[in-house]
Amino acid sequence: MQIVLCDDAEHAAREAAKWVQALLVHKAKPVLGLATGSTPIRLYQELIALHQLQQLSFANCTTFNLDEYFDIAATHKQSYRSFMQKHLFNHVDIDQTNTYLPACSQGQNPRLVGLEYEQKIAAAGGIDLQILGIGSNGHIGFNEPTSSLASRTRLKTLTAQTIADNSRLFEPDEVQPTMAMTMGIATIMDARYILLIATGQAKAEAVRQMVCGPVSAYCPASILQMHEHAIVVLDKDAASLISDQQYLKVAEQENQRMIDMYGLQFIAE
Ligand code: F6R
Repeated sequence: MQIVLCDDAEHAAREAAKWVQALLVHKAKPVLGLATGSTPIRLYQELIALHQLQQLSFANCTTFNLDEYFDIAATHKQSYRSFMQKHLFNHVDIDQTNTYLPACSQGQNPRLVGLEYEQKIAAAGGIDLQILGIGSNGHIGFNEPTSSLASRTRLKTLTAQTIADNSRLFEPDEVQPTMAMTMGIATIMDARYILLIATGQAKAEAVRQMVCGPVSAYCPASILQMHEHAIVVLDKDAASLISDQQYLKVAEQENQRMIDMYGLQFIAE
């Protein structure tokens, strides 16, 4: 894992944006994996700002979101489609017909929807860079603890912890979904690059388990230890429980020196 230590959430968003920008600038037809939730909002704001400065175009980009609530209308204000429209798609030059989420309604067979989503990703040439957040229980996408490390896009039941963590986003009288379609752990691992962002003290223990713990289905994010190109961007609070901070700082300085010298265009190779 390449661990990028940042001072705060704004700094983390700027660092993360550099990787996305490198891909979009250097690859002719980039395929981006997207996440929802509070964490990537700042990254999306950075990307929108770069777009407005004419330094970033999404015109040739295809996107696949990690997940979508089960049986929710695209137009529902709590759908992840609405989230993406609000926080990114409506503000950049993306062709919205190239933006995909694993939407599945009650009348559809989730197994087929999952299979079709995998086929769409493959037909697009696979995901170049997958953006991830991490749940306080170590989930990535909605792959909750005990999810198969070999899983593919499918329907998952959310844990009580995830439902409680996300309840802040719902009005008291709003029905909160308890199931979601999500890319599987193997789907995520197929991405050429992974860019996981974690900020805040609430993520510190999950980050510790992801980075320092054993690879275990009980902390799905720990599988990223097995990924060839996993970039983990952390603010101070999220990184606070990782051991050997001194080594991480030295390694990060060296990484930055290499990036300053050679750039990030290798992400598009
Ligand atoms: C979102 C997703 C989730 C979130 C995670 C963290 O598409 O798949 O894994 O990344 O729950 O959410 P926040 O950023 O709200 O803390």
